[in-house]
Amino acid sequence: MRSRNPGAGILCVVGARPNFMKIAPVIRAMQGATPPLPVRLLHTGQHYDAEMNSQYFEALGIPDPDINLGVGSASHAVQTAEVMRRFEPVLDQEQPAAVLVVGDVNSTLACALVAVKKGVAVIHVEAGLRSFDRGMPEEINRVLTDQISDLLFTTEKSARENLLREGIPESRIHFAGNVMIDTLRYSLKRAVPSTHTFSRYGAPADWAQGGFAVLTMHRPSNVDDAATLRSLLGAIRDVSRRVPVVFPMHPRTRAKIEQYGLGSMLDDGSFLKLPPLGYLEMLGLMQAARLVLTDSGGIQEETTALGVPCITLRDNTERPITVEQGTNTLAGQNPARILAVVDDVLRNAGKAGRIPELWDGRASQRIAAVVRDWLDGAAERLVA
Ligand code: UD1
Repeated sequence: MRSRNPGAGILCVVGARPNFMKIAPVIRAMQGATPPLPVRLLHTGQHYDAEMNSQYFEALGIPDPDINLGVGSASHAVQTAEVMRRFEPVLDQEQPAAVLVVGDVNSTLACALVAVKKGVAVIHVEAGLRSFDRGMPEEINRVLTDQISDLLFTTEKSARENLLREGIPESRIHFAGNVMIDTLRYSLKRAVPSTHTFSRYGAPADWAQGGFAVLTMHRPSNVDDAATLRSLLGAIRDVSRRVPVVFPMHPRTRAKIEQYGLGSMLDDGSFLKLPPLGYLEMLGLMQAARLVLTDSGGIQEETTALGVPCITLRDNTERPITVEQGTNTLAGQNPARILAVVDDVLRNAGKAGRIPELWDGRASQRIAAVVRDWLDGAAERLVA
């Protein structure tokens, strides 16, 4: 597709927490290009709590959104539809050269869909990742967003193969590297030391010396079903008897633990239960941890970049390079398997891993350069 309005700006979209770390360096690179690429920022409001939201904007240096759709939580259908309904008139008014979406959340797909139907070009950052698990809402969002994108930026080689297999023209695909790792490198110096977080939340002082694990868990497949959640919390309680576990809780997970009456399971292990943490606190904790247990996508990548062992509480990953080259091990939901992997990491320090190609902190600059060339080309084609 051509941009009908190549002289206009790029409308960047964010909706949920994992989007924020991805958009921050992209905006910085576009604004820092010579000449600067005009950008505007739209927040759908999918995540709205301060602890899921504004503290990230500040820590990551993201400008205040120019537009906030204030959508909030709802079922997938309602949330997606509501973003679309509210985004359409905004797009009519903004008339951007392109809409840039990141990642795989409902807001990503919703805004891409509105844009493509209006004839506005779509740029997808972090394209082509596939878990091959269509039961995962993010997988649907990834596949569909990629199908309707004009420029697709990938983070690892597997993504390009996935896109080609799905019939995406090669000319649209650009291997740029990983913008999350741009943010990580940019922020490392400002990471909050784990000792500060421990003293702020009252953890025993010896945890920082003796080593600790960090846990994050929020995927519907892990937390929505009572039996699965009980079994996972049981496994993690056993882990906490080997190494203390620091657990910043996603609102969804906290709500499910309360709903199913499982809170007491976290009382007799060695746990530090925390609210969702800011990016710089989380970075400081991960950096100092002996291991990280997670079902997040981004944390699999961040731990690989930090060289910290990661145990993923899923059977699959859309980020296979973190297993092939990085520090990640897939442990799934089986308690015996999780404990075996944890024991192995505690005894042998886990996989050494290496940094994947182009996870060098400059992915956003490469993206800005490609977008610039593409806009220039679009402008020339319009004149011709
Ligand atoms: C969304 C993304 C997921 C991402 C995750 C990170 C989709 C399909 N999923 O899942 O890919 O990994 O964000 O957080 O887009 N809630 C609050 N405050 C908030 C936001 C949510 O309390 O600011 C609670 C609400 O009860 C809500 C639940 O968390 O029902 C789930 O929120 P939602 O945005 O629907 O999905 P996430 O599970 O956060």
